[in-house]
Amino acid sequence: MIVAIKLGGSIITQKSRFKTPEPAAIDALCALIGEYHKKGVKFIVVHGAGSYAHIPAKEYGLADGIKTEEGLVHYASVHSLCEELSTIITNSLIRHGVPAISFHPATFVTQNKKLPVKIDDKLLLRYLKEGFVPVTHGDVVLDKSLRTSIISGDGLMDHFGKELADKLIYASDVDGLLSSLDVKGELIRDVTKKNFDGVYRMVSGSQHTDVTGGMSGKIKNLMTLKCPTYLVNGKHPNRIRSILDGKKDIYTKFTPG
Ligand code: IPE
Repeated sequence: MIVAIKLGGSIITQKSRFKTPEPAAIDALCALIGEYHKKGVKFIVVHGAGSYAHIPAKEYGLADGIKTEEGLVHYASVHSLCEELSTIITNSLIRHGVPAISFHPATFVTQNKKLPVKIDDKLLLRYLKEGFVPVTHGDVVLDKSLRTSIISGDGLMDHFGKELADKLIYASDVDGLLSSLDVKGELIRDVTKKNFDGVYRMVSGSQHTDVTGGMSGKIKNLMTLKCPTYLVNGKHPNRIRSILDGKKDIYTKFTPG
């Protein structure tokens, strides 16, 4: 079974404090990946950039590409920060006996108008086949129209969900898809073709759209993938264990098709 798991930036870093990792959370998640790697699960680990890159990327306006030669240095420094965080994740995985190899999207992804046009993942997949655990992450990349843009870890997950994964797991700091983001928000446990329209209306009509910049678009996309997607709170690794064991727990499962 091939599982692509995204370790969200809000779990592995303190999102509002520049370059601050969350070592305990990283260790717990990497230990879990190690445990299931030894059981034969083939993982692709994707991680967010959290406070390593979001803060400087915003400061330099990198989301819309670079416009000056000074921008090249900003681009390089944000990429280097993403690499630094990736090294922390791979080292933690290696400590847990996982043969983790980091792949940086700046060196194998090209976009056009902020959307991937080429993801040259042949070597990454070769490593996967050999028994390694590829690690990749949100990063700055070259862009045909904008010169440069940003690919999120979600964009990479989407690619693996279309191509080869049997399960996508998003570990973030929320319990799953909530009916609304206020106190009345309840966990939606299952999203299928049957209840999708109702869920979509509920999510589009709630604050979700404003806060996340398009949760409704994201969930629509999950229903076009070739495998189920799970949204789970990464602060509770046992819930990820339940997903991998096929047991019920607190999470949202999207079943396309
Ligand atoms: C963002 O990646 C990449 C950069 C800002 C360069 P993600 O969007 O996947 O990161 P998180 O999970 O929100 O931190």
